[in-house]
Amino acid sequence: MTDDSDLSGKRAIVTGASAGIGRSTARLLAEEGAAVAVAARREHRLNELADEFGPSDDGEILVVPTDVTDTDQIDALVAETVDAFGGLDIVVSNAGLLPPNGIDDLTEDQYRNFMGVNVDGMYFLTKASLPHLREGEGNLVFVGSYAGTLPFPRSPLYAGSKWWLRGFAHSLQGAEGMEGVAVSVVNPGEVRTEIGEAARGETNIDRYDPGEITEPREAAEAIVFTARQHPPNTVTELNLMRRTKFDNLRHRSEFPD
Ligand SMILES: NC(=O)c1ccc[n+]([C@@H]2O[C@H](COP(=O)([O-])OP(=O)(O)OC[C@H]3O[C@@H](n4cnc5c(N)ncnc54)[C@H](OP(=O)(O)O)[C@@H]3O)[C@@H](O)[C@H]2O)c1
Repeated sequence: MTDDSDLSGKRAIVTGASAGIGRSTARLLAEEGAAVAVAARREHRLNELADEFGPSDDGEILVVPTDVTDTDQIDALVAETVDAFGGLDIVVSNAGLLPPNGIDDLTEDQYRNFMGVNVDGMYFLTKASLPHLREGEGNLVFVGSYAGTLPFPRSPLYAGSKWWLRGFAHSLQGAEGMEGVAVSVVNPGEVRTEIGEAARGETNIDRYDPGEITEPREAAEAIVFTARQHPPNTVTELNLMRRTKFDNLRHRSEFPD
């Protein structure tokens, strides 16, 4: 593996770029010289991110307001990016939600919107992007979660979406490797973002103090590390956890002191 590849001239899409991990990832890619199409629903947030970039910076930000539950908007995102940048090298499929906990009270609309973002959005962005990624032996990075690596009783639906993502991504790597495309999954533990606001009325920023859990910029660095790999290598999976993440395992009775 290498971590010193130059990202200047690379052409990227980042979804969920209006906040948290996606915003930090888009910023970092652009700081490293990439041209980045930033996608999310909140256009004013995307414009703020673009405004942070001055003409002296190497990178470039293209604002493409997108709802990833709408396949026409996903197709337009990819087409507009390829049209503006002349191709596509990196896709960071990051937009994701935490659903309200439990199953009993979840409405059908809440379920379908959740699946539309966490599963269908990932699939349709992949479908639209792959023909372009194949042309340049590009990198497709999915943002998964710790919750997709072990049972996560607090939110079976969230966990299910992230398990699906890992199965899809690793199988896709098997299918696309011969085309030169790298497919990666980055699984963060808790990250201090706005996640959780809609689901539980409390974000991770409200819940955790700085330094207690992973910061968005740190998750972005892991994502950008995977995105800069080039043939013949890929980072198939990268888990980024706080160091105290497995503390509870110390108390399991089957592992006596
Ligand atoms: N934070 C954590 O602890 C953590 C841990 C593991 C994995 N993750 C994963 O990391 C990813 C990013 O989460 P985050 O923590 O950065 O959350 P966040 O701060 O809440 O940001 C979520 C992003 O997703 C976008 N989004 C939501 N619905 C969308 C839609 N229909 N169309 C387009 N964009 C949409 C939001 O933009 P708009 O609202 O503007 O559309 C926002 O930019 C998710 O896949 C999440 O599952 C997070």
